[in-house]
Amino acid sequence: MRQNEIRFEFHGALAETVGEADGLTKKEWAALGKETSEIVARLNAARAKTPYRDLPLKPAISQCEAVLASARAKKGKFDDLLVLGIGGSALGLTALATALCPPYWNLLATEKRGGRPRVWVMDNVDPAEFAAALDLVDPKRTLVNVISKSGSTAETMSQFLVALDLLEDCVGKDWRKHLVVTTDAQAGILRPFVEAEGLESFAVPDGVGGRFSVLSPVGLFGAAMIGIDVEALLAGAAAMDKRCSETDFAQNPAAQGAAVQIGLYRKRKPMSVMMPYSAALRDVADWFRQLWAESLGKTRSDGTQVGPTPIKALGATDQHSQVQLYREGPNDKVFTILSVEDFGAEVPIPDPPAGVKGLDYLAGRTMKELLKAEERATVWALGLSKRPTTRILLPRVTPDTVGQLLYMLQVQTSVAGEMLGANTYNQPGVEAGKEAARALMGAEGAIKDPSSKGLPADATSCAALRKRIETDLG
Ligand code: PA5
Repeated sequence: MRQNEIRFEFHGALAETVGEADGLTKKEWAALGKETSEIVARLNAARAKTPYRDLPLKPAISQCEAVLASARAKKGKFDDLLVLGIGGSALGLTALATALCPPYWNLLATEKRGGRPRVWVMDNVDPAEFAAALDLVDPKRTLVNVISKSGSTAETMSQFLVALDLLEDCVGKDWRKHLVVTTDAQAGILRPFVEAEGLESFAVPDGVGGRFSVLSPVGLFGAAMIGIDVEALLAGAAAMDKRCSETDFAQNPAAQGAAVQIGLYRKRKPMSVMMPYSAALRDVADWFRQLWAESLGKTRSDGTQVGPTPIKALGATDQHSQVQLYREGPNDKVFTILSVEDFGAEVPIPDPPAGVKGLDYLAGRTMKELLKAEERATVWALGLSKRPTTRILLPRVTPDTVGQLLYMLQVQTSVAGEMLGANTYNQPGVEAGKEAARALMGAEGAIKDPSSKGLPADATSCAALRKRIETDLG
């Protein structure tokens, strides 16, 4: 076994733990093993169709060297990194930054950040928030990384226009040195701009959708800028690739994860809760929520609607918010606990002052012990209420283990998509909303193949779509 290997535990999801109605029986587990092994073999054979799988293995696709060289050249030159992107163009970097930078990174003094910039991932167009972020940074010491595969997402493009204007005003002709563009290698609105202006850019690799792009420059450039060891991240993912390519079910954590999730989805558990017991991993749950929802929430070609609903929670915080529902509400959920063995920090709990009674049990213990006790207690209590649980165990939160974790969850999603008969890699439901917002904002022009974007067949132009929305909404 490789050092720092993450482990997947599924005992809590089996019938022997939670009973036949709510867990997977031995027979069901064996059948799921056979089903997922066949899927893994098919995915291995058709690997070219899932280019995200090669990101950790092929530097030419991840552009790792160029990313590192660029980040090295910029070290010390910028106090702030302003990342403009949404969905898959934002959530991966946010997850990496929360997991792998020291807590409260943006509040640390420059020396404590090793001269690396603060990072602001702006994934919304809330005017109050965006204006406040621009007020916080000094444009002369700010690097903007605009990330959009399509180069046409209205939210990101509006942020881009505002940021560009600010840079031009504040740094004049030097604005080009303050902008890095991450977009499709050929297509989209941004690429011709990059070429015309001679801007620094990275390519979102061909065939890699936003939610599978964290290990491409979409996630890696920002990560390298804030000092995350992206080579170790990719090495962890590469090691996990080996495990996820195993057709032996017992050796493949992604196949086992998909087997639990979809096996129980078929047993009327359509909700999937991811609950890290680690603040560092809280945004991994957010990233996974998009990955799972956008990949699996689909209408199949036969008209069947499929897709488990992902829910994010945080231990121990949400024990005091959600666990009442989780234990006594509808038994329609499967739980994934993210568990960390070594937090790399410890807070001893001192003796209570004289006169404070009833807290002696905490004295001399540590916060880590308390958090681990909370985690064990929750897993146990969920099991007592016949709620199925799995655990993903990380020895520590490091670039290597986070690389393993993200990669495992991506392959788990690919396997689950096959089990559901879903098209894992498209997102017509998102495209429809994007087109509709553009139309309402006054965009003009034809819309090619509206049905493939989840739009009514007669929405063949922005004007027609606008009219249709206005009629429908009144
Ligand atoms: O995962 C996805 O494909 C989406 O969430 C996209 O990342 C998101 O819609 C942003 O798209 P784009 O990168 O084209 O601006």
